[in-house]
Amino acid sequence: MAILIDGKKTAAEIRAELRLKTDDFFEKYGRRPGLAVVRVGEDPASVVYVRNKMRACDDVGFVSKTVVLPEDSAEEEVEAEVLRLNADPMFDGLLVQLPLPRGLDEKRIVSLIDPDKDVDAFHSLDAGRLKLTDNNILPCTPAGIIELLKRYRVPLRGAEAVVVGRSDIVGRPAAALLLAADATVTVAHSRTRDLASVTRRADILVCAVGKAGLITGDMIKPGAAVIDVGMNRNSEGKLCGDVDFASAEPVAGFITPVPGGVGPMTVCMLMKNTLSAALRREEN
Ligand code: GUN
Repeated sequence: MAILIDGKKTAAEIRAELRLKTDDFFEKYGRRPGLAVVRVGEDPASVVYVRNKMRACDDVGFVSKTVVLPEDSAEEEVEAEVLRLNADPMFDGLLVQLPLPRGLDEKRIVSLIDPDKDVDAFHSLDAGRLKLTDNNILPCTPAGIIELLKRYRVPLRGAEAVVVGRSDIVGRPAAALLLAADATVTVAHSRTRDLASVTRRADILVCAVGKAGLITGDMIKPGAAVIDVGMNRNSEGKLCGDVDFASAEPVAGFITPVPGGVGPMTVCMLMKNTLSAALRREEN
């Protein structure tokens, strides 16, 4: 029986910590940290994600604003909005919700975000800083994974960590953070031969592929910490991860559920990054 890693509870604890720090910030600087989000179009998942980000801002006491642009916005209009928000002193953090509608140049638009306001850490400068381990803004989902492992006292130093998936926003940066925490890191992906023999080595197994049921109990080392970043819908439309929970849970030592595992941590780390950006601005 694995220990269930409760992301919802941990996220609530961290938000309570952030509320106190935000009150201190307000007392000291006479303003509240601010986050601006640009959403283009009405992608249903993006609508929900952005709403959750705004709620989290209210919860921790930040100023927040969502700028909604029409689905058929021109590249220049989106770019102009990013530049406007870069220059707006009300906001310490700025993000453009992805994916963008077809026809918009996601890479170019993200590249225009002021790196000091890049609380998603998607800008190539922040991705590069992460590689050089002199980062000050950590990507939200990978940072949430490390935070969960630390709070549940899963040993990282010298641990065999296997990350399945090599996306720019989860797999690669998660591997970088595990490496920075002194784990021995392997990144597996769609071209990996004999995935099971790789995952079975893992003391820490992070799965971020987007394929329901990819990881089954027989692929897990007994006692391993299993972190499931997958967000899939099964045939009944129910939200599920990449890990087959029923077969994995009896083998693992720790396991995150989906929903209620890594998911709630991502928004929480976004709040943490926004407060850090605000503090950096005031202290410099
Ligand atoms: N789309 C899915 N996840 C994210 C995220 O963390 N940030 C942004 N900007 N877009 C996303």
